[in-house]
Amino acid sequence: MKFFLDTANLQQIKEAQELGVLDGVTTNPSLMAKEGVKGEDEIRNHYKQICEIVDGDVSAEVLSMTYDEMVKEGEELAALHPQITVKLPCTKDGIRAVKYFADKGVKTNCTLVFSVGQALLAAKAGAKYVSPFVGRLDDICSDGVALIEQIVNVYNYYGFETQVLAASIRHTQHIIQCMEAGADVSTCPLNAILGLLKHPLTDQGLEAFMKDAEKMKSEK
Ligand code: E4P
Repeated sequence: MKFFLDTANLQQIKEAQELGVLDGVTTNPSLMAKEGVKGEDEIRNHYKQICEIVDGDVSAEVLSMTYDEMVKEGEELAALHPQITVKLPCTKDGIRAVKYFADKGVKTNCTLVFSVGQALLAAKAGAKYVSPFVGRLDDICSDGVALIEQIVNVYNYYGFETQVLAASIRHTQHIIQCMEAGADVSTCPLNAILGLLKHPLTDQGLEAFMKDAEKMKSEK
């Protein structure tokens, strides 16, 4: 399973890249605004900086709602860097734009997906990634991980190549659950990835080994 970082924070992207397990980055307008990125030039420059830090795909979301505007904006975003993946909402115009870009060989990520029917349309239109929002479904007392499993099963059954990108991951256990459900990618906050490292037996074992290591050094 690939790990994407779900942030526009350059420091966190550098930290995850240094860890050596980062496969890509996803952003959205809220994450970009959180970093104080404003105006066309700053937005473009920020995406380019992200692409220079990470090796894999970087999702850049369109800010428009209509097909014509999405196509224009998506073409400009895709031209910024070969790693850019145009992120489009799962609406009627968004699906049309996914199909337009798929026909041109431009990578897309179909976002704001909350049902298996939406995921089916994204795959049929030729999206490289589909982003079901796990956390936001859990927030309304629905089952986000169950949707991941359902989409994975349908895609496998029909042989769709669209990758299931589990989004809106809120914590470490979500990563494990999405991995078990067969997601191709999880896009996560850095803390959720670092949480995978945590185990008290690792801490206890290391403490004991370091104590014995000190003995070995002093007994030389
Ligand atoms: C990423 O592609 C999504 O935009 C993001 O994971 C949404 O996460 P949130 O529900 O925590 O805002």
